[in-house]
Amino acid sequence: MRIAVVAALVATSITITAPQVEALENGLARTPPMGFNNWNTTGCRAEFNEAMVKGIADIFVNKGLKDVGYQYVNLDDCWAKTTRDSNGNLVPDPVRFPNGIKALADYVHSKGLKIGIYTSAGTKTCNTAGFPGALGHEQQDANLFASWGIDYLKYDNCNNQGVDAVQRYTKMRDALKNTGRPIVYSICEWGRSEPKVWTWGPDTGNLWRTTGDISDNWTSMIGKAKANRVLAQYAKPGAWNDPDMLEVGNGGMTATEYRTHFSLWAIMAAPLLIGSDLRKVNDDTFTILKNTDVIAVDQDPLGKQGTVISNSNGLVVYSKVLANGDRAVALSNENTSTATISTSASAIGIGGSSSYTLKDLWSKQTRTTTGSISASVPAHGTVMYRVSRSGNVNRIEAENATISQGVVESNHAGFSGTGFVNGTNAVGPYVEWTINATQAGTVTLTFGYANGTTANRPVDLTVNGTLVRDELAFNGTGAWTNYSSVTTTVTLVAGENKIRVTATTANGAANLDYLDIT
Ligand code: GCU
Repeated sequence: MRIAVVAALVATSITITAPQVEALENGLARTPPMGFNNWNTTGCRAEFNEAMVKGIADIFVNKGLKDVGYQYVNLDDCWAKTTRDSNGNLVPDPVRFPNGIKALADYVHSKGLKIGIYTSAGTKTCNTAGFPGALGHEQQDANLFASWGIDYLKYDNCNNQGVDAVQRYTKMRDALKNTGRPIVYSICEWGRSEPKVWTWGPDTGNLWRTTGDISDNWTSMIGKAKANRVLAQYAKPGAWNDPDMLEVGNGGMTATEYRTHFSLWAIMAAPLLIGSDLRKVNDDTFTILKNTDVIAVDQDPLGKQGTVISNSNGLVVYSKVLANGDRAVALSNENTSTATISTSASAIGIGGSSSYTLKDLWSKQTRTTTGSISASVPAHGTVMYRVSRSGNVNRIEAENATISQGVVESNHAGFSGTGFVNGTNAVGPYVEWTINATQAGTVTLTFGYANGTTANRPVDLTVNGTLVRDELAFNGTGAWTNYSSVTTTVTLVAGENKIRVTATTANGAANLDYLDIT
């Protein structure tokens, strides 16, 4: 029997609760910032100067980087003189920036790009030369940056005098806001102090460093990925985990490792700030940095950071929910010999279709699968696919059904679609799916769910108002991130059918993920 699946309207029945906290709300960085920062290639060396910054802006335009989304040309430490002027203002180093920062900003803006600057939430920046920091000068420095036309501030953590991080970073947030100029705010606190920056970062900045500095080698890069990949729940449009800037092109890793670096940053929705001197890099570097399929994963408008679906001794599967219902998957080999890495469409959260299209985002080849996703992955390599449903889809996500009482959430990875329904913990809340059957007959219903408790969370199942299963069991799955399914058969009438599951105990229903009808 053929079934046409129709998602029910939900708009009126979902309650969304938001915490009442002061927020950044600057409307910026709806997708992770893309651009350049000189630090990973020059550090404080003299070649960090006006000619370099202008040269990078030129290359952004001439080599098509601007066209694929790179926008911010950012200055790191060492741009200033070691002393403020008689009015207490920061002064650009006259040797590096003989025309000042305002002229440089005008140049960058004339190319249709934006410009970023750097200082520290301390008395001095990090460099031992002793450049002045903004602690105690927040508003004055923010005003100066705004007057120059600055669009982005990286705010470091050195020489902070032990002052509370939330206080220091909030003060600059408010100072930037007071300028009235839209300035992306990058918190560079390294994930060090308590409470952890990812808990207050989303209300304070547009991005926050989750780790210490990256270096141009495999061990450092993969270490940053490991630390950052467990923090997916904190990222959202306007607020991103930042595992530090890219090393692609700097020469310390192989092309395979750099592709892994870029793939993982993209699937983690990390900022893509190029850290190599584009005036000197080879064509391989541009090929990696301009991979528009991988960039599209990073810049997906849904703004969900990908999560680790499985990790078998360094053979790691990541999955990222995308706005159009596709999933990006990365099969990443952290080990030193080639290995086959396997997962499945349902394991990465895109089950319910008879076939799938896999587009390899590096080789650009496309193939079809009924569900298995597997590849031979070289040492330190990553195979990345965009997975789309291409067959008959017989699934309705719970988040697209009618929800009487509860919320759609996505904090427990492993769900299908864009989230799951966390129904109110009570007797009576229900989720109801509406499906159209072209003819009457028996179908199999498969309910995807998770129940992180040890107690059964039974539901009553009704079809068109008639009780067909009394207290259908939804047993514990071991964790809220372990998804399982309950299957039962029911008879449908031709035309519209209402399939409803209603919680029967005070614990409410399990977290409901989807309904498949076969
Ligand atoms: C936890 C869990 C939720 C779940 C709830 C419950 O809060 O994070 O996802 O819905 O327990 O017991 O229902």
